Amino acid sequence: MPILFDPQARTFHLRNGQVSYLIRVLANGALGHVYFGGTLAESGPRGHLASREFLGFDNRLGEPVPLEYPTAGIGDYRVPALVVRAPDGSTANDLRYVSHRTFPGKPAIPGLPSTYVQAHEEAETLEILLADTPADLEVRLYYTIFVDRSVVARSARIRSLRQVPQTLLCAMSASLDLPDSDWNLVHFSGAWARERHVVKRRLGPGSMSFGSLRGASGHQHDPSLLLQREATTEQHGEAYGLSLVYSGNFLAEAEVGAFGTTRLRLGINPEGFAWNLEPGAEFCAPEAILVYSDDGMEALSDAYHTLYRDRLARGVWRDLPRPIVINNWEATYFDFDEPRLLAIASSARELGMELFVLDDGWFGQRDGDNTSLGDWTVNLAKLPGGIGGLARKIEELGLRFGIWIEPEMISQRSRLFTEHADWVVGVPARPRTEGRNQLVLDMSRGEVVDYLFGVLSDLLSHAPISYVKWDMNRNITEPYGGALPAERQGEFFHRYILGVYDLYDRLGRAFPNVLFESCAGGGGRFDPGMLAYAPQAWTSDDTDAIERLRIQWGTSQVYPLSSMAAHVSAVPNHQVGRITPLQTRAAVAFFGVLGYELDPTTLSAEERALVAGQIEFYKAHRELFQRGRFVRLRGPFEGDGNETAWMTVSRDRKQGVVGHYRILNGPNPGPSRLRLRGLDPAATYRVSVWPAGDDAIAKANAGLRGGDELMKMGLTIRSEDPNDSRSLGDFHARLFDLDADESAHPSSRE
Ligand code: GLA
Repeated sequence: MPILFDPQARTFHLRNGQVSYLIRVLANGALGHVYFGGTLAESGPRGHLASREFLGFDNRLGEPVPLEYPTAGIGDYRVPALVVRAPDGSTANDLRYVSHRTFPGKPAIPGLPSTYVQAHEEAETLEILLADTPADLEVRLYYTIFVDRSVVARSARIRSLRQVPQTLLCAMSASLDLPDSDWNLVHFSGAWARERHVVKRRLGPGSMSFGSLRGASGHQHDPSLLLQREATTEQHGEAYGLSLVYSGNFLAEAEVGAFGTTRLRLGINPEGFAWNLEPGAEFCAPEAILVYSDDGMEALSDAYHTLYRDRLARGVWRDLPRPIVINNWEATYFDFDEPRLLAIASSARELGMELFVLDDGWFGQRDGDNTSLGDWTVNLAKLPGGIGGLARKIEELGLRFGIWIEPEMISQRSRLFTEHADWVVGVPARPRTEGRNQLVLDMSRGEVVDYLFGVLSDLLSHAPISYVKWDMNRNITEPYGGALPAERQGEFFHRYILGVYDLYDRLGRAFPNVLFESCAGGGGRFDPGMLAYAPQAWTSDDTDAIERLRIQWGTSQVYPLSSMAAHVSAVPNHQVGRITPLQTRAAVAFFGVLGYELDPTTLSAEERALVAGQIEFYKAHRELFQRGRFVRLRGPFEGDGNETAWMTVSRDRKQGVVGHYRILNGPNPGPSRLRLRGLDPAATYRVSVWPAGDDAIAKANAGLRGGDELMKMGLTIRSEDPNDSRSLGDFHARLFDLDADESAHPSSRE
């Protein structure tokens, strides 16, 4: 049983082979946090740990013992997990243990995405009921431990038993106290076209936080917070991760107290949040996924990858190989008609691509980005046969058909705006701020969600549509729900995202075979919440191979390869104007869900041959690229960032592909090797180099190599001859394809 309860010591021990989480009911009934980290023995003399009562202000330390769900106003002056404003305006709360139960499996969270189990035996859940009796408040804390993952999933539910509403001002998904502050805080930050760059900061006295108040998780910060020791590497050392399964406003914070302890908290951003707790009604905070690793960052990432890929993503597409798409956006922008699209599709089909995505511009009068969002009816001038006509022609070519939509948005120049200006987010009597010339529909209104469900169901049921790219291109301004009374306006942002989840959920159920890809001006809502509905996301609008090294490296810290859509685009690149070799663009995009975002009819015969070869290579390794164990070898945020190397290895360690990328070449660089990881030291691998060639690097590596040799000595990525690097140039990429050769005897290694 992964959850043990010692009734004498009133201690809960959630335990598997990888982690332990200990909670104790203190003598005065407060719920103390004892430990989260590597596995401890089932029982031990742990009486000294968190044995004191919660002494609050009387405790001269000024930092009461760690609590599982700290509250404000009773002597713990660090950041709280819970703040409730009582009808008299007071905000002090004090939670005490009432009861608990454990049960196999894992409950869903009403209205919110969460990780799940397929069989009850996969996990066990602890539910602890706490109460603040004077405040008539109940809090239920949920902890799920999976049998074979280094993960604890946490969430909280808050209920008021008062006859008059109380106001919930802060309800974190998780708060975690750690006994020291010798940590680096790692998070993933950026902006449009440079999302999820790795940021590392040393913790120090006071608090460090990041979050979103945009109505979406945002391009600026990913909703996950990692801690690592100074000495932690990819392979070794301690690391913690807290990741929020949520797509709206969030807060992630690390606070170092007066005595060098650390409190982490993660949840809905309390700024601007105020939820009316109606008598008896329950508020559900989103789920936080806690991971601990003492085997470095690679193991931490792998715990997130496998959980999010296999037990957060759902539906038929969770496990299916994802199609190679051809997307017309960068090929045509708004300027297309049916013959042009069919020419692109037919040419893409010849090269081996599998699904055509019709991007923005197919509806209303949409010839630019200032009109028609909301009018999801086809523009017959561009597509005389309608979406159905085009989709059928695409299918006849042998491709599946996908479509772009941006359902949450509305243009002022649209039919929908003339009919339903009241559905638009905005503060009455205040001008609305436009972003990308568009406004936002109020997804907190049930009738808006119902309307969109009707329109989109109609679209999806009248044409053979296999894939939907669901975009969201601006954040919310003038937040205000027209259907909400004044005292509920603090609920708006959360209700908005609940509306988005509701629409996704209903469409996913009604069209279970459609593959959804989420998008928000690239990676502006790339978060675990979205992955529950759309198993892949458009990683960034930036398709430049060199920029993508950083973006995909940062994204890979938490998200699996199967979630990262990565496209080869034309040069000069449309975001940064850089000219990179076609093979380099593919070698980066391979590590994810491959697609193309260019006009294949404009490619030369030589380029077409290269693209056909890329697709052939990707198809032969698709399982590895989408579902292999991802190993980061050399990072774009390390040193001068000139080299990146990563690899993907099959779970049975029989196959792997290594990618090595060099941004700028240099003269007479000297020999250099790249040591691999994750292989079977006893196996012999046949190494081949992609693109194939007979240059020095190919010659130095191709052939039979031992797993031990590849991991201890490595691949040759620079030869000894200074002349060899002349031909490589800048923006060079090389893949090494590893295949365990069962017939090869170690003595036959070359
Ligand atoms: C966003 C997306 C792009 C494209 C455009 C269309 O920017 O991220 O991929 O779909 O919108 O307007």
